Amino acid sequence: MAAKKACESFSKSLIEDVHKWGCMKQTGVSLKYMTEFGSNPSDRNLLLSAQFLHKELPIRIARRADELGALPYGLSEKPAVLKVRDWYIDSFRDMRNFPKIKDMNDEKEFTRMIKAIKVRHNNVVPMMALGVQELKKGMDPKIVYEDLDEIQQFLDRFYMSRIGIRMLIGQHAELHNPNPPPHVIGSIHTKMSPLEVARNASESARAICLREYGSAPEIDIYGDTGFTFPYVPTHLQLMVFELVKNSLRAVQERFMDSDKVTPPVRIIVADGIEDVAIKISDEGGGIPRRGLPKIFTYLYSTAKSPLDEHSDLGTDDRVTMAGYGYGIPISRLYAQYFGGNLQIISLEGYGGSGTGTAMLIERTDAYLHLSRLGDSKEPLP
Ligand SMILES: Nc1ncnc2c1ncn2[C@@H]1O[C@H](COP(=O)(O)OP(=O)(O)O)[C@@H](O)[C@H]1O
Ligand SMILES: [Mg+2]
Repeated sequence: MAAKKACESFSKSLIEDVHKWGCMKQTGVSLKYMTEFGSNPSDRNLLLSAQFLHKELPIRIARRADELGALPYGLSEKPAVLKVRDWYIDSFRDMRNFPKIKDMNDEKEFTRMIKAIKVRHNNVVPMMALGVQELKKGMDPKIVYEDLDEIQQFLDRFYMSRIGIRMLIGQHAELHNPNPPPHVIGSIHTKMSPLEVARNASESARAICLREYGSAPEIDIYGDTGFTFPYVPTHLQLMVFELVKNSLRAVQERFMDSDKVTPPVRIIVADGIEDVAIKISDEGGGIPRRGLPKIFTYLYSTAKSPLDEHSDLGTDDRVTMAGYGYGIPISRLYAQYFGGNLQIISLEGYGGSGTGTAMLIERTDAYLHLSRLGDSKEPLP
């Protein structure tokens, strides 16, 4: 029973060590620190960065492992959650067993290890989704999952912390790249074109829609092609991808069997002084009023859960159109990580053209606000 490992095969002293480290104060790293280190990957900086992570990562990992063991409603005992906790404890142990980093050889070894840790945690999100779904199934149907605020808050904290840990590991690992492309500092691109990223993300989302439905609505993108600002392209890619998938699904479901012309999904990139806004609009029918308060909760989905179909989560990397209920809450976390936000405004059943022709405008507008990453010294989560 691999899933029982957390209770049985970790020594008592290791679990105590986890708890001790989990209580230590974590140190936030600012973007300025990341870019300064990243633009000067000298041996000295590599060494300093590795030494910092050697102390910082176990604190962050231990805090999560500790929390995973003390979740309400019996969530901690669900096999999928036990498995995730095992990953965290394994990683904590790897970190703690690693001796003091004294020279560049140690540093290389250390980098290899933290990269392996990142890979170990690749499937944390769907595995946790599985755990929460197990909980939901076993619960009194009168309790609505969306009302379980404590779990919602835990998951927000948990995934936010994961974004931070992966960003730190990614930045450090990338310092080893001998020939980084111009304007690239680890995962940060100092001249990222949001329009280009939005286009790539849209194409990926459209490809999945095509695969799933056999056809896909058009996507029109508006904005200044020459506009760039510093950001993390993989984060923006993920957010636009999720939001566009939602729009495509809504429009597709609504117009698939209709003889009306399918309206395109529209993306507008607006460069403001304080932030960059990306609006993704569709006329896919809007979000039902009773669903609207739940869209930022985990596992609210009107699609069939892919977890019901394949339980081989460890090996299945297939990206799905919808069904986890994670697209919106996770995208908001990515936006918030750098101080931005995500808002969704949906008009359901709004409309009437005023000319007598029945024309319902049932639409959804998602607004992504991204901070312009400047020289911020604010510590990131
Ligand atoms: N553009 C949209 N139009 C209509 N409904 C939407 C839209 N975006 C999201 N939704 C609703 O919100 C739910 C949650 O979205 P999301 O968090 O991305 O999870 P998933 O797509 O896996 O269901 C969707 O299942 C859908 O019911
Ligand atoms: Mg979605």
